[in-house]
Amino acid sequence: MTKYSLDACKVMPIKRITDERGDIGVVEAGRDIPFVVRRLYYSYNTPNDVVRGGHAHKNLHQFLFAIAGGFDLTLDDGTNRRTFRLDRPDEGIYICPMVWRDLSNFLPNTVCLVMASEYYDENDYIRNYDEFLKSCRVKDAV
Ligand code: TYD
Repeated sequence: MTKYSLDACKVMPIKRITDERGDIGVVEAGRDIPFVVRRLYYSYNTPNDVVRGGHAHKNLHQFLFAIAGGFDLTLDDGTNRRTFRLDRPDEGIYICPMVWRDLSNFLPNTVCLVMASEYYDENDYIRNYDEFLKSCRVKDAV
């Protein structure tokens, strides 16, 4: 099994094209992000006091950013944990498989856009943190 860790998760600038009419942001799958996109989804109307996420994925690669507003993203690979503030539409973060994520402290009107490498599959989720830690130990042993 590939050893995925926090080191593989990277904050990445999003290409920005600016003229007198404003800005556009561009993300090209396989070029700007290291996977082909099969699914795009976004969260919105998120109350400030909730925590979203609370899971890891076994095989899914994702690129995630605040298309509007902002939130904190805490990533955890079972050994290390780090919190990022995502609050600009020209910067996203690549999340590799086997990294636990929590999203919190949402600003009003936040839209969190996620580009994902696979179609939705509940079997790809690890929603129990102890189970996640056990899977990390197995991963470290191979
Ligand atoms: P979940 O991935 O747990 O949300 P988040 O990580 O943003 O907190 O998904 C919430 C619910 O929506 C869960 O019941 C699964 C469902 N869902 C789909 O049906 N399809 C999808 O593409 C996604 C992302 C979620």
